[in-house]
Amino acid sequence: MAEQTITMEKVTSLAKRRGFVFQSSEIYGGQNGAWDYGPLGIELKNRIAGTWWKEMTQLHDDIVGLDAAILMHPRTWEASGHVENFTDPLVDCKKCKTRFRADQIPEENITAKKCPECGGELTDTRKFNLMFKTNIGAAEDTANIIYLRPETAQGIYVNYKNIIQSNRMKIPFGIAQIGKAFRNEIVTKNFIFRTCEFEQMEMQFFVKPGTDEEWFNEWRKRRWAYYEKLGVKMDHLRWHQHGPGELAHYAKEAWDIEYLFPMGWRELEGVHNRSDYDLGRHAQFSGKDMQYIDQDNNNERYTPFIVETSAGLTRNVLMILCDAYDEEKVADKGNEDDWRTVLRFHPSLAPITVAVLPLMKKDGLAELAQDIRQELKQDFATDYDQGGAIGRRYRRQDEAGTPFCVTVDYQSKEDSTVTLRFRDSMEQIRVPIAELTARLRQEIKTYKRG
Ligand code: GAP
Repeated sequence: MAEQTITMEKVTSLAKRRGFVFQSSEIYGGQNGAWDYGPLGIELKNRIAGTWWKEMTQLHDDIVGLDAAILMHPRTWEASGHVENFTDPLVDCKKCKTRFRADQIPEENITAKKCPECGGELTDTRKFNLMFKTNIGAAEDTANIIYLRPETAQGIYVNYKNIIQSNRMKIPFGIAQIGKAFRNEIVTKNFIFRTCEFEQMEMQFFVKPGTDEEWFNEWRKRRWAYYEKLGVKMDHLRWHQHGPGELAHYAKEAWDIEYLFPMGWRELEGVHNRSDYDLGRHAQFSGKDMQYIDQDNNNERYTPFIVETSAGLTRNVLMILCDAYDEEKVADKGNEDDWRTVLRFHPSLAPITVAVLPLMKKDGLAELAQDIRQELKQDFATDYDQGGAIGRRYRRQDEAGTPFCVTVDYQSKEDSTVTLRFRDSMEQIRVPIAELTARLRQEIKTYKRG
């Protein structure tokens, strides 16, 4: 079947039309770098978060969860190095007033101080800190400055001793967290790819120094396998190792998993060897002992190394939307111009798992369909749609990424069977109503994208 090019415009337009993602404060002209997740978007985001959470906590005996506060003591960010180092190099055009990241425009423009947009004169490059700063309490003075966290990781580091003590964790062990992070990003194009308010899914794994490289390689393998299990297009994923100029201030070694988005290869997730940098700095700045005491090994003391896996949740939403997006010519309908847009989500990620559609509203079909939906609700995310031609209703569900449709027709009243329609193949089969739940469970479990 013929294929069309997937563009960010198409994905953005579908996301808005079907209620996945809306621009923040749209009625006021929108707020740059902020987005709202609509009814389908929040379901998709929750499922991606749930899948990650299960993978990183439930399936590991040695990883526990945490939900730390966004507002942290400001010394945290001095210790972490973010006050000093979390900066982008910036230049402004004196003529058109456009602001650029100096590392994202051609070198010759920087050297010649020439604006790539209008040819006007550029300012000198200066460092711009990405942390949002505000004041806590009534007085607006420097003593009350507080930051919105730019990464969730630090909430884990400052709690690592609490968790060892309360949960009797032994090294090696991990702490996982999903939560909001904020960065005053200068360039926020490409929809929800890079935003000022976003969510991260981070796991910090505490290991004995000397075992860090082994664990680093192990976590690289595990994170790659995770995306494989999620069913994304594996030829759209690749590794990128950070060179010396790219490494974050805390990183000893870093590899990104990159995804081939419509605008090209971009970072999806980072795996970092943060060494003992973070715990060492928190010990220094807080005056507290951050060493681990190995009671199984003659009370040996050491500052653990940390292997971090850090994925953007909202960036994963964009990746899953792009990965699922497909336009297909429906040749078998005999109409050359008949195209359908379909989101080929894995059924476990789809916002709606099954839609129930009565062929007609009358003759008791709607009531029977409602009864079936009521039953399916106990196990699946369902939708019900009785408006319009059945073909059009299938297309609406295809666009929402619903993997299964159940159609109730006159035969259903006679023999208690329904039509089960598959989103990907558009194949339709007859299934007894009594077997629907078990059949759908089986289909979800064995799903393979064609
Ligand atoms: N704790 C390490 C850390 O924060 P990072 O590479 O700066 O590392 C990790 O960020 C992940 O967070 C990225 O791979 C990306 O998925 C996501 N991310 C970072 N900045 C983002 C932004 N402005 N908007 C959306 N997602 C972002």
